[in-house]
Amino acid sequence: MREVAGKVAFVTGGASGIGLGLAKVLVRAGMKVVLADLRQDHLDEALAWFRGQGHLAEVLGLRLDVTDRTAYAQAADAAERAFGKVHLLVNNAGIGLLGPLKLAGYSDWDWGLGVMIGGVINGIQTFLPRILAHGEGGHIVNTSSMAALIPINNAAIYVTCKAAMVGLSEVMRGELAADGIGVSAFCPGPVQTNIRESGRTRPEALKAGSGYAELERQLEQRANSPLWMDPVECGERILAGIRRNDLYILTHREFKEGASQHYEALLASFPDEPVDTARAQNIRYLLGNPVFAEEIGKKRKK
Ligand SMILES: NC(=O)c1ccc[n+]([C@@H]2O[C@H](COP(=O)([O-])OP(=O)(O)OC[C@H]3O[C@@H](n4cnc5c(N)ncnc54)[C@H](O)[C@@H]3O)[C@@H](O)[C@H]2O)c1
Repeated sequence: MREVAGKVAFVTGGASGIGLGLAKVLVRAGMKVVLADLRQDHLDEALAWFRGQGHLAEVLGLRLDVTDRTAYAQAADAAERAFGKVHLLVNNAGIGLLGPLKLAGYSDWDWGLGVMIGGVINGIQTFLPRILAHGEGGHIVNTSSMAALIPINNAAIYVTCKAAMVGLSEVMRGELAADGIGVSAFCPGPVQTNIRESGRTRPEALKAGSGYAELERQLEQRANSPLWMDPVECGERILAGIRRNDLYILTHREFKEGASQHYEALLASFPDEPVDTARAQNIRYLLGNPVFAEEIGKKRKK
Protein backbone atom coordinates (compact mmCIF):
# COMPACT_ATOMS: atom_id res chain seq x y z
CA MET A 1 0.00 0.00 0.00
CA ARG A 2 2.35 2.66 -1.25
CA GLU A 3 -0.32 5.39 -1.34
CA VAL A 4 -2.03 5.86 1.99
CA ALA A 5 -3.45 9.40 1.74
CA GLY A 6 -7.25 9.40 1.63
CA LYS A 7 -7.45 5.80 2.86
CA VAL A 8 -8.83 4.47 6.13
CA ALA A 9 -7.03 2.62 8.93
CA PHE A 10 -8.51 0.62 11.82
CA VAL A 11 -6.01 0.38 14.69
CA THR A 12 -6.85 -1.76 17.71
CA GLY A 13 -5.37 -0.55 20.97
CA GLY A 14 -5.14 2.68 18.99
CA ALA A 15 -5.64 5.07 21.90
CA SER A 16 -2.33 4.47 23.67
CA GLY A 17 1.33 3.71 23.17
CA ILE A 18 2.38 2.24 19.83
CA GLY A 19 -1.16 2.28 18.41
CA LEU A 20 -1.54 5.97 19.19
CA GLY A 21 1.96 6.77 17.91
CA LEU A 22 1.05 5.04 14.66
CA ALA A 23 -2.33 6.82 14.48
CA LYS A 24 -0.56 10.20 14.73
CA VAL A 25 1.77 9.22 11.88
CA LEU A 26 -1.08 7.89 9.72
CA VAL A 27 -3.15 11.06 10.18
CA ARG A 28 -0.11 13.14 9.25
CA ALA A 29 0.19 11.02 6.11
CA GLY A 30 -3.39 11.87 5.15
CA MET A 31 -5.29 8.83 6.40
CA LYS A 32 -8.52 8.65 8.37
CA VAL A 33 -7.92 6.55 11.46
CA VAL A 34 -10.26 4.58 13.71
CA LEU A 35 -8.87 4.20 17.22
CA ALA A 36 -10.50 1.07 18.64
CA ASP A 37 -9.63 0.63 22.30
CA LEU A 38 -10.96 -0.93 25.46
CA ARG A 39 -9.96 1.95 27.74
CA GLN A 40 -12.29 4.95 27.65
CA ASP A 41 -9.73 7.14 29.48
CA HIS A 42 -7.16 6.39 26.77
CA LEU A 43 -9.75 7.19 24.07
CA ASP A 44 -10.66 10.48 25.78
CA GLU A 45 -7.02 11.54 26.07
CA ALA A 46 -6.18 10.52 22.52
CA LEU A 47 -9.18 12.35 21.05
CA ALA A 48 -8.33 15.45 23.11
CA TRP A 49 -4.82 15.36 21.60
CA PHE A 50 -6.17 15.17 18.03
CA ARG A 51 -8.69 17.93 18.81
CA GLY A 52 -5.80 20.10 20.07
CA GLN A 53 -3.94 19.52 16.82
CA GLY A 54 -7.02 20.43 14.75
CA HIS A 55 -7.30 16.85 13.45
CA LEU A 56 -10.40 15.59 15.25
CA ALA A 57 -12.25 15.10 11.96
CA GLU A 58 -9.65 12.58 10.78
CA VAL A 59 -10.09 10.20 13.71
CA LEU A 60 -12.92 8.18 15.19
CA GLY A 61 -12.64 6.76 18.69
CA LEU A 62 -14.53 3.55 19.32
CA ARG A 63 -14.70 1.63 22.58
CA LEU A 64 -14.04 -1.99 21.63
CA ASP A 65 -12.93 -5.15 23.36
CA VAL A 66 -11.27 -7.09 20.53
CA THR A 67 -12.33 -10.39 22.13
CA ASP A 68 -16.02 -9.51 21.57
CA ARG A 69 -16.91 -10.69 18.04
CA THR A 70 -20.34 -9.07 17.89
CA ALA A 71 -18.96 -5.73 19.07
CA TYR A 72 -16.09 -6.04 16.57
CA ALA A 73 -18.53 -6.37 13.65
CA GLN A 74 -20.48 -3.37 14.98
CA ALA A 75 -17.25 -1.36 15.26
CA ALA A 76 -16.38 -2.22 11.65
CA ASP A 77 -19.85 -1.03 10.57
CA ALA A 78 -19.38 2.20 12.52
CA ALA A 79 -15.94 2.72 10.95
CA GLU A 80 -17.36 2.29 7.45
CA ARG A 81 -20.31 4.57 8.20
CA ALA A 82 -17.92 7.31 9.36
CA PHE A 83 -15.09 7.02 6.84
CA GLY A 84 -16.02 4.47 4.14
CA LYS A 85 -13.95 1.47 3.04
CA VAL A 86 -11.20 0.32 5.40
CA HIS A 87 -7.84 -0.48 3.73
CA LEU A 88 -5.46 -0.91 6.66
CA LEU A 89 -6.07 -3.15 9.67
CA VAL A 90 -3.52 -2.96 12.49
CA ASN A 91 -4.00 -5.76 14.99
CA ASN A 92 -2.11 -3.98 17.75
CA ALA A 93 -4.11 -4.38 20.99
CA GLY A 94 -2.05 -6.37 23.47
CA ILE A 95 -1.18 -6.78 27.11
CA GLY A 96 2.08 -7.12 29.03
CA LEU A 97 1.28 -10.50 30.51
CA LEU A 98 4.52 -11.72 32.07
CA GLY A 99 5.40 -14.15 34.81
CA PRO A 100 6.76 -17.62 35.50
CA LEU A 101 4.91 -20.49 33.89
CA LYS A 102 4.67 -22.18 37.30
CA LEU A 103 2.41 -19.39 38.53
CA ALA A 104 0.17 -19.21 35.45
CA GLY A 105 -3.48 -20.10 35.90
CA TYR A 106 -6.01 -20.92 33.20
CA SER A 107 -7.37 -17.39 33.58
CA ASP A 108 -3.93 -15.99 32.63
CA TRP A 109 -3.75 -18.19 29.55
CA ASP A 110 -7.33 -17.40 28.60
CA TRP A 111 -6.80 -13.65 28.90
CA GLY A 112 -3.51 -13.63 26.99
CA LEU A 113 -4.57 -15.92 24.17
CA GLY A 114 -8.01 -14.30 24.06
CA VAL A 115 -6.66 -10.80 23.44
CA MET A 116 -3.40 -11.43 21.59
CA ILE A 117 -4.47 -14.33 19.39
CA GLY A 118 -8.28 -14.32 19.59
CA GLY A 119 -8.45 -10.55 19.13
CA VAL A 120 -6.28 -10.75 16.02
CA ILE A 121 -8.37 -13.57 14.58
CA ASN A 122 -11.49 -11.49 15.20
CA GLY A 123 -9.88 -8.58 13.37
CA ILE A 124 -9.04 -10.75 10.39
CA GLN A 125 -12.42 -12.48 10.29
CA THR A 126 -14.18 -9.12 10.52
CA PHE A 127 -12.13 -7.09 8.06
CA LEU A 128 -10.69 -9.50 5.52
CA PRO A 129 -14.08 -10.12 3.82
CA ARG A 130 -14.69 -6.37 3.77
CA ILE A 131 -11.30 -5.60 2.21
CA LEU A 132 -11.79 -8.40 -0.32
CA ALA A 133 -15.29 -7.08 -1.11
CA HIS A 134 -14.16 -3.54 -1.94
CA GLY A 135 -11.44 -5.00 -4.14
CA GLU A 136 -9.02 -2.08 -3.74
CA GLY A 137 -6.49 -4.10 -1.77
CA GLY A 138 -4.91 -2.98 1.46
CA HIS A 139 -2.61 -4.06 4.23
CA ILE A 140 -2.82 -5.98 7.49
CA VAL A 141 -0.24 -5.56 10.28
CA ASN A 142 -0.12 -8.16 13.04
CA THR A 143 1.75 -6.92 16.10
CA SER A 144 4.26 -9.43 17.35
CA SER A 145 7.36 -8.56 19.41
CA MET A 146 11.11 -9.07 19.55
CA ALA A 147 10.11 -11.61 22.20
CA ALA A 148 8.95 -13.81 19.32
CA LEU A 149 12.41 -13.69 17.73
CA ILE A 150 14.24 -14.09 21.04
CA PRO A 151 11.91 -15.85 23.47
CA ILE A 152 12.93 -15.08 27.05
CA ASN A 153 12.04 -16.68 30.37
CA ASN A 154 8.97 -15.64 32.33
CA ALA A 155 7.07 -14.81 29.17
CA ALA A 156 5.48 -18.12 28.15
CA ILE A 157 1.98 -16.79 27.45
CA TYR A 158 3.23 -13.62 25.78
CA VAL A 159 5.75 -15.47 23.60
CA THR A 160 3.17 -18.10 22.62
CA CYS A 161 0.93 -15.33 21.28
CA LYS A 162 3.64 -13.23 19.65
CA ALA A 163 5.33 -16.21 17.97
CA ALA A 164 1.92 -17.11 16.54
CA MET A 165 1.76 -13.65 14.93
CA VAL A 166 4.92 -14.36 12.93
CA GLY A 167 3.67 -17.67 11.52
CA LEU A 168 0.20 -16.28 10.91
CA SER A 169 1.57 -13.27 9.02
CA GLU A 170 3.85 -15.44 6.88
CA VAL A 171 0.94 -17.62 5.81
CA MET A 172 -1.39 -14.67 5.22
CA ARG A 173 1.27 -12.97 3.14
CA GLY A 174 1.38 -15.73 0.52
CA GLU A 175 -2.37 -16.28 0.49
CA LEU A 176 -3.43 -12.63 0.15
CA ALA A 177 -0.82 -11.25 -2.26
CA ALA A 178 -2.97 -12.02 -5.29
CA ASP A 179 -5.74 -9.89 -3.80
CA GLY A 180 -3.42 -6.91 -3.44
CA ILE A 181 -3.35 -7.22 0.33
CA GLY A 182 0.07 -6.88 1.95
CA VAL A 183 0.76 -8.41 5.34
CA SER A 184 3.45 -7.55 7.89
CA ALA A 185 4.52 -9.04 11.19
CA PHE A 186 5.56 -6.08 13.33
CA CYS A 187 8.20 -6.95 15.96
CA PRO A 188 9.21 -4.07 18.20
CA GLY A 189 11.63 -4.03 21.09
CA PRO A 190 10.99 -1.83 24.12
CA VAL A 191 8.84 1.25 23.46
CA GLN A 192 7.73 3.96 25.90
CA THR A 193 4.06 3.08 26.32
CA ASN A 194 1.45 2.35 28.99
CA ILE A 195 1.81 -1.43 28.71
CA ARG A 196 2.74 -1.56 32.42
CA GLU A 197 -0.93 -0.75 33.15
CA SER A 198 -2.19 -3.85 31.36
CA GLY A 199 -3.60 -5.31 34.58
CA ARG A 200 -6.27 -2.58 34.52
CA THR A 201 -7.83 -4.17 31.44
CA ARG A 202 -8.04 -7.70 32.85
CA PRO A 203 -11.71 -8.74 32.74
CA GLU A 204 -13.35 -9.28 36.13
CA ALA A 205 -14.18 -12.88 35.19
CA LEU A 206 -10.49 -13.66 34.56
CA LYS A 207 -9.20 -12.38 37.90
CA ALA A 208 -10.04 -15.48 39.91
CA GLY A 209 -7.48 -18.22 39.40
CA SER A 210 -4.73 -15.88 38.19
CA GLY A 211 -1.24 -16.45 39.56
CA TYR A 212 -0.08 -13.09 38.28
CA ALA A 213 -1.99 -10.55 40.43
CA GLU A 214 1.08 -9.50 42.43
CA LEU A 215 3.27 -9.35 39.29
CA GLU A 216 0.68 -7.15 37.60
CA ARG A 217 0.83 -4.76 40.55
CA GLN A 218 4.65 -4.72 40.36
CA LEU A 219 4.65 -4.15 36.60
CA GLU A 220 2.45 -1.10 37.06
CA GLN A 221 5.26 0.52 39.12
CA ARG A 222 7.85 -0.02 36.34
CA ALA A 223 8.95 3.27 34.80
CA ASN A 224 9.54 3.65 31.07
CA SER A 225 13.20 4.24 30.26
CA PRO A 226 13.93 7.28 28.08
CA LEU A 227 16.23 4.92 26.15
CA TRP A 228 13.23 2.94 24.88
CA MET A 229 11.80 3.96 21.52
CA ASP A 230 9.31 6.78 21.20
CA PRO A 231 5.89 5.54 19.98
CA VAL A 232 5.79 8.07 17.15
CA GLU A 233 9.18 6.90 15.86
CA CYS A 234 7.80 3.39 16.10
CA GLY A 235 4.75 4.49 14.10
CA GLU A 236 6.99 6.02 11.43
CA ARG A 237 8.82 2.72 11.09
CA ILE A 238 5.52 0.85 10.77
CA LEU A 239 4.27 3.19 8.05
CA ALA A 240 7.57 2.88 6.14
CA GLY A 241 7.22 -0.92 6.38
CA ILE A 242 3.63 -0.80 5.11
CA ARG A 243 4.68 1.38 2.15
CA ARG A 244 7.52 -1.02 1.28
CA ASN A 245 5.23 -3.99 1.92
CA ASP A 246 7.80 -5.53 4.27
CA LEU A 247 7.03 -9.00 5.55
CA TYR A 248 8.79 -8.20 8.82
CA ILE A 249 8.87 -4.74 10.36
CA LEU A 250 11.71 -4.79 12.88
CA THR A 251 12.55 -1.72 14.94
CA HIS A 252 15.55 -2.40 17.17
CA ARG A 253 18.93 -3.39 15.68
CA GLU A 254 20.13 -4.48 19.16
CA PHE A 255 18.28 -7.78 18.82
CA LYS A 256 19.95 -9.03 15.62
CA GLU A 257 22.71 -11.16 17.16
CA GLY A 258 20.31 -12.85 19.58
CA ALA A 259 17.86 -13.61 16.79
CA SER A 260 20.68 -14.92 14.61
CA GLN A 261 21.73 -17.30 17.39
CA HIS A 262 18.13 -18.45 17.77
CA TYR A 263 17.84 -19.41 14.10
CA GLU A 264 21.36 -20.85 14.03
CA ALA A 265 20.41 -23.19 16.89
CA LEU A 266 17.40 -24.28 14.89
CA LEU A 267 19.36 -24.92 11.68
CA ALA A 268 22.07 -26.74 13.62
CA SER A 269 19.43 -29.19 14.81
CA PHE A 270 18.55 -30.68 11.42
CA PRO A 271 19.73 -34.28 11.18
CA ASP A 272 23.15 -34.40 9.56
CA GLU A 273 22.22 -36.93 6.85
CA PRO A 274 21.57 -36.94 3.11
CA VAL A 275 18.25 -35.73 1.70
CA ASP A 276 15.90 -38.51 0.61
CA THR A 277 15.28 -37.16 -2.87
CA ALA A 278 12.18 -39.31 -3.55
CA ARG A 279 10.61 -38.11 -0.30
CA ALA A 280 11.64 -34.53 -1.04
CA GLN A 281 9.91 -34.77 -4.43
CA ASN A 282 6.78 -36.21 -2.81
CA ILE A 283 6.50 -33.39 -0.26
CA ARG A 284 7.88 -30.58 -2.39
CA TYR A 285 5.00 -28.24 -1.50
CA LEU A 286 6.08 -28.40 2.17
CA LEU A 287 9.72 -27.57 1.59
CA GLY A 288 9.61 -23.87 0.83
CA ASN A 289 7.45 -20.77 0.61
CA PRO A 290 8.16 -18.16 -2.09
CA VAL A 291 7.44 -15.33 0.35
CA PHE A 292 10.89 -15.80 1.89
CA ALA A 293 12.81 -15.68 -1.40
CA GLU A 294 10.83 -12.57 -2.38
CA GLU A 295 11.69 -10.86 0.88
CA ILE A 296 15.38 -11.74 0.65
CA GLY A 297 15.43 -10.47 -2.95
CA LYS A 298 13.82 -7.20 -1.89
CA LYS A 299 16.31 -6.63 0.94
CA ARG A 300 19.31 -7.42 -1.32
CA LYS A 301 18.15 -4.83 -3.86
CA LYS A 302 18.13 -2.07 -1.20
N1 LIG B 1 5.70 -1.47 24.65
C1 LIG B 1 6.58 -2.33 24.21
O1 LIG B 1 7.76 -2.25 24.58
C2 LIG B 1 6.19 -3.45 23.27
C3 LIG B 1 7.18 -4.29 22.78
C4 LIG B 1 6.81 -5.32 21.92
C5 LIG B 1 5.49 -5.46 21.54
N2 LIG B 1 4.55 -4.63 22.05
C6 LIG B 1 3.17 -4.84 21.61
O2 LIG B 1 2.66 -3.63 21.09
C7 LIG B 1 1.24 -3.61 21.22
C8 LIG B 1 0.80 -2.28 21.79
O3 LIG B 1 1.23 -2.20 23.14
P1 LIG B 1 1.71 -0.86 23.84
O4 LIG B 1 3.05 -1.15 24.38
O5 LIG B 1 1.50 0.28 22.95
O6 LIG B 1 0.74 -0.84 25.12
P2 LIG B 1 -0.33 0.22 25.65
O7 LIG B 1 -0.86 -0.40 26.89
O8 LIG B 1 0.24 1.59 25.75
O9 LIG B 1 -1.44 0.23 24.54
C9 LIG B 1 -2.25 -0.89 24.30
C10 LIG B 1 -3.70 -0.47 24.19
O10 LIG B 1 -4.45 -1.67 23.93
C11 LIG B 1 -5.66 -1.56 24.66
N3 LIG B 1 -6.23 -2.89 24.89
C12 LIG B 1 -5.85 -3.82 25.79
N4 LIG B 1 -6.67 -4.89 25.73
C13 LIG B 1 -7.60 -4.62 24.77
C14 LIG B 1 -8.71 -5.31 24.26
N5 LIG B 1 -9.08 -6.50 24.75
N6 LIG B 1 -9.43 -4.73 23.28
C15 LIG B 1 -9.10 -3.51 22.79
N7 LIG B 1 -8.06 -2.80 23.26
C16 LIG B 1 -7.32 -3.35 24.24
C17 LIG B 1 -5.30 -0.87 25.96
O11 LIG B 1 -6.44 -0.25 26.54
C18 LIG B 1 -4.25 0.13 25.49
O12 LIG B 1 -4.85 1.40 25.25
C19 LIG B 1 0.89 -4.83 22.06
O13 LIG B 1 0.44 -5.86 21.21
C20 LIG B 1 2.20 -5.20 22.72
O14 LIG B 1 2.26 -6.55 23.05
C21 LIG B 1 4.86 -3.63 22.90
